[in-house]
Amino acid sequence: MVLDGKIALITGAAKGIGQGITFALAKAGADVAIVDRDVEGLTETERLVEALGRRVLKIQTDVTRQEDVAKMVAKTVESFGQLDVAVNNAGVVGVCPIAEMSPEEWDRVHNVNLKAVFLCCQAQVIEMRRRKFGRIINLASMVGKVGMPGMTHYSASKFGVIGLTNALAKEVARDGITVNALCPGIVGTDMLIGPDGFATKNALPGESVADAWNRVQDTMMPQGEAQTVEDMGHAAVFLATAPHVVGQAIAVDGGYTL
Ligand SMILES: NC(=O)c1ccc[n+]([C@@H]2O[C@H](COP(=O)([O-])OP(=O)(O)OC[C@H]3O[C@@H](n4cnc5c(N)ncnc54)[C@H](O)[C@@H]3O)[C@@H](O)[C@H]2O)c1
Repeated sequence: MVLDGKIALITGAAKGIGQGITFALAKAGADVAIVDRDVEGLTETERLVEALGRRVLKIQTDVTRQEDVAKMVAKTVESFGQLDVAVNNAGVVGVCPIAEMSPEEWDRVHNVNLKAVFLCCQAQVIEMRRRKFGRIINLASMVGKVGMPGMTHYSASKFGVIGLTNALAKEVARDGITVNALCPGIVGTDMLIGPDGFATKNALPGESVADAWNRVQDTMMPQGEAQTVEDMGHAAVFLATAPHVVGQAIAVDGGYTL
């Protein structure tokens, strides 16, 4: 299998896209360190990986805390001896018109979506340089390529992830490390259809979340449908195994950003 003998670390792995990417990397042969601030939530992901016969290490981490992030990388290397693939996926969403947005709300989104990606990349690069090998995949978004009204903070954080990825890819290109961004379109996780999700917040008066979700897929997506966690898993396996794809922001968005 293409990732046999590789060790992958995935943040935000308790559910949603992080869980889907974890499953895909493990299915491709990797042993995995799964990371989330919600350690209880990692149990289902752990079960899925174990069923594939792969080794799995659960790590409770708040990726916004530098000390936690350093420990996350150290524990992975202590348990598995190396770190080959890192997927910086943990993220939070926010829907709020700019006139109503507090600086605290701006910071809440930026701390997880952008500052934490910096902290994770920093710790991962330091470790990966040791072995002159690494594949870093940062989760951005289609709205990191095309701005989304009502989500200025979220869009800005994802544009930032693409910028960080681009600059860092050049900085570490001679160290055997590739850095790329993966830009999902819309995937029916809690981020879209949970209580604070994008579709939920955009439901019309009297419209159910299910109907709002169908409307969002139909009106926003050229293909008329959402993408899946499996789509993101495929793309992550590709980026984890592509030695000469450097600094790209790969859209898996059904053509939204065409
Ligand atoms: N769902 C989509 O349509 C979509 C679209 C574009 C981009 N994305 C991006 O993909 C990534 C995953 O999104 P998702 O839809 O699976 O979200 P989700 O809300 O389903 O899962 C996010 C996970 O991140 C974890 N997390 C949040 N803050 C954390 C922190 N400080 N420390 C550790 N873990 C933390 C949560 O506990 C959760 O398990 C995010 O970066 C998101 O911005 C998602």
